Amino acid sequence: MQVNLTGRTALVTGSTQGIGAAITTALARSGATVAVNGRTSDSVTAAVKRLRAEVPDAEVVPVAADIATEEGAELAVELLPEVDVLVNNLGIFEPRPALEITDEEWRRYFEVNVLAAVRLTRAYLPGMTGRGWGRVQYIASDSAVVIPAEMIHYGMSKTALLAVSRGFAKEAAGTGVTVNAVIAGPTHTGGVEDLVYELVDRDLAWDEAQRVFMRKHRPQSLLQRLIEPEEIAHMVVYLSSPQASATTGGAVRVDGGYVDSILP
Ligand SMILES: NC(=O)c1ccc[n+]([C@@H]2O[C@H](COP(=O)([O-])OP(=O)(O)OC[C@H]3O[C@@H](n4cnc5c(N)ncnc54)[C@H](OP(=O)(O)O)[C@@H]3O)[C@@H](O)[C@H]2O)c1
Repeated sequence: MQVNLTGRTALVTGSTQGIGAAITTALARSGATVAVNGRTSDSVTAAVKRLRAEVPDAEVVPVAADIATEEGAELAVELLPEVDVLVNNLGIFEPRPALEITDEEWRRYFEVNVLAAVRLTRAYLPGMTGRGWGRVQYIASDSAVVIPAEMIHYGMSKTALLAVSRGFAKEAAGTGVTVNAVIAGPTHTGGVEDLVYELVDRDLAWDEAQRVFMRKHRPQSLLQRLIEPEEIAHMVVYLSSPQASATTGGAVRVDGGYVDSILP
């Protein structure tokens, strides 16, 4: 299958590193113009440079804006008034004992992980439906389904994204616009690599370290290793493609079999 996104513009939120950066690279390789988003122009400029080093002919739009705020979302839409593919990837996570999560933190997780995605969907969906083509995606997590006891605020926000995704898919019914959630599993990002070496012997080589980590701390995974960000990005590129026209209202798993369920 050859995915060709030439002529399409994609905004990937929170894409200066990690899964978001891998998604921008993969979309750019498929010919899309990609908007790289982070909170500061320094981080965005550095990410754009890395992306151009990997995909020299990439068409890139820098969008330095804190999209978790109302003003930041407005700025993003001002810088990029129309998109064909919206990937709501931005998400924060941090362990916190359940009874110690304050009102402020509950609100922050809702604002950053859910409301930011809702605002951008509201801003971009009418343009997509008006043009009769578009792709909206939400990067959810295994934690949407298997709520982690050590970060239930994060789990709540990812469960909410599944509802938001299903709801906006109904709003876009019959328009040529598809809306889906991607349930990502434990992924090899910088933050997760640090976590692995906090929990297993620092002298172990990476491959062995991650396998020990998965065996001891993520035994539900059928993959028994961390997922590489590019493996999430491949699914996002597929869902962004014209070929994925019949997949909408779904929650698609790239979780290494982590969620012990037959559906979705
Ligand atoms: N890593 C995993 O194992 C895993 C597993 C399942 C699901 N996920 C989900 O996948 C997504 C990406 O995770 P990740 O681990 O790749 O994240 P990450 O490495 O922590 O990267 C977060 C990105 O978001 C940007 N960012 C943070 N706050 C922002 C804001 N307010 N406005 C705009 N950009 C902002 C950061 O850029 P700046 O610092 O430049 O602002 C950075 O590019 C999240 O939704 C996460 O929940 C991750």
